[in-house]
Amino acid sequence: MHRCAGDRTADMAGMRTDGVGQTAHCRGVRRGRPATIAASAAAVFAGMLWLAPLPVPAGLALAQPVEVAPVAGAPYVSTPWPVVRAMLELARVGETDFVLDLGSGDGRVVIEAARSRGARGLGVEIDPDLVLSSNDEARQLGLSPRVAFERRDLFETDLSPATVVTLYLLPRLLMELQPRLARLRPGTRIVSHDFRLGDWKPDATVKVDVPDRAFGPPFSTVYLWVVPAYVQGTWEGSVADRGRSERFRVDLRQDYQALSGNLRVGARSGPLDRAAIAGDQVSFSARLDGPGGPVRHSFEGRSVAGELVGQWRVELAGRASDPVAGASLPAVRTADIIARRSDAPAVPGRRP
Ligand SMILES: C[S@@+](CC[C@H](N)C(=O)[O-])C[C@H]1O[C@@H](n2cnc3c(N)ncnc32)[C@H](O)[C@@H]1O
Repeated sequence: MHRCAGDRTADMAGMRTDGVGQTAHCRGVRRGRPATIAASAAAVFAGMLWLAPLPVPAGLALAQPVEVAPVAGAPYVSTPWPVVRAMLELARVGETDFVLDLGSGDGRVVIEAARSRGARGLGVEIDPDLVLSSNDEARQLGLSPRVAFERRDLFETDLSPATVVTLYLLPRLLMELQPRLARLRPGTRIVSHDFRLGDWKPDATVKVDVPDRAFGPPFSTVYLWVVPAYVQGTWEGSVADRGRSERFRVDLRQDYQALSGNLRVGARSGPLDRAAIAGDQVSFSARLDGPGGPVRHSFEGRSVAGELVGQWRVELAGRASDPVAGASLPAVRTADIIARRSDAPAVPGRRP
């Protein structure tokens, strides 16, 4: 199997590459990174993965002083190729996407997103040599119109153009980034290699075998989050309920993607027993008891420009205790509705 000289860091961390898409990509990878730096970078990441006292295998002993590298907070360790592909797959990267890799290393994630999936992208990286070699690589592969690499601090990078953000950074950097990531446009996908975004529960997790890793577990973990719209607050509108137009009011509480709350329709009210948010897609449902029998109200729609827009469904949820009204009404009715916020959105503590 062909190996890149510049992939030495990855190899030392047991992150052997697998050949596919590698030969061309190797050309631009920087050579000659001091072994002590490579060793310390690999050891930091491996140590984080083990969550145990940092083991330093004999071959990686730091016998000489470590040369100062242009690294601000996360060492350079490249993501193994099968993991790169798993990240792009989990985020369903496609031609309409703009992939932003924060701390882009040798550029492999953004280059692979453009090469195999037709995406556009930007890698920001603090190490100028890596930026140079990534841009060289993109040019040689004929990808430079669609991808670029810039020397920039990831904390001073505008994240808003991204539809997909990719990360392989240490947890303390992720903790710092998390609030900004959580405020990205609803539907933006975030994928992280091996480390989670604080207490934000991922929408999906996959394990990828990396059998020949020198230490740490023989697999990587890839996490996906889909940024949810911020819908916490009170929303109001009108809906037809058993022949009458009724005002409704829904109070939504949100903890990242977890949604709960209470619904009032006319004089009836009750807790939501189903509520979900995925990107800008919102749904909730409640069974409301009252004179004439229980009625289930359900909403399915989107959060669009400060409104909830979608379909409201009203169905008789049990035997009508008012047989006359019950007989004259269809069991299920749906209508298009718009709900508007009736409160100013509070500054969220744990804003999704
Ligand atoms: C673990 S490597 C990941 C490289 C690449 N994303 C990958 O998955 O193969 C982290 C990279 O982040 C870069 N980095 C660390 N802090 C940074 C910062 N504040 N701004 C930009 N890049 C940074 C490091 O130089 C390193 O190349």
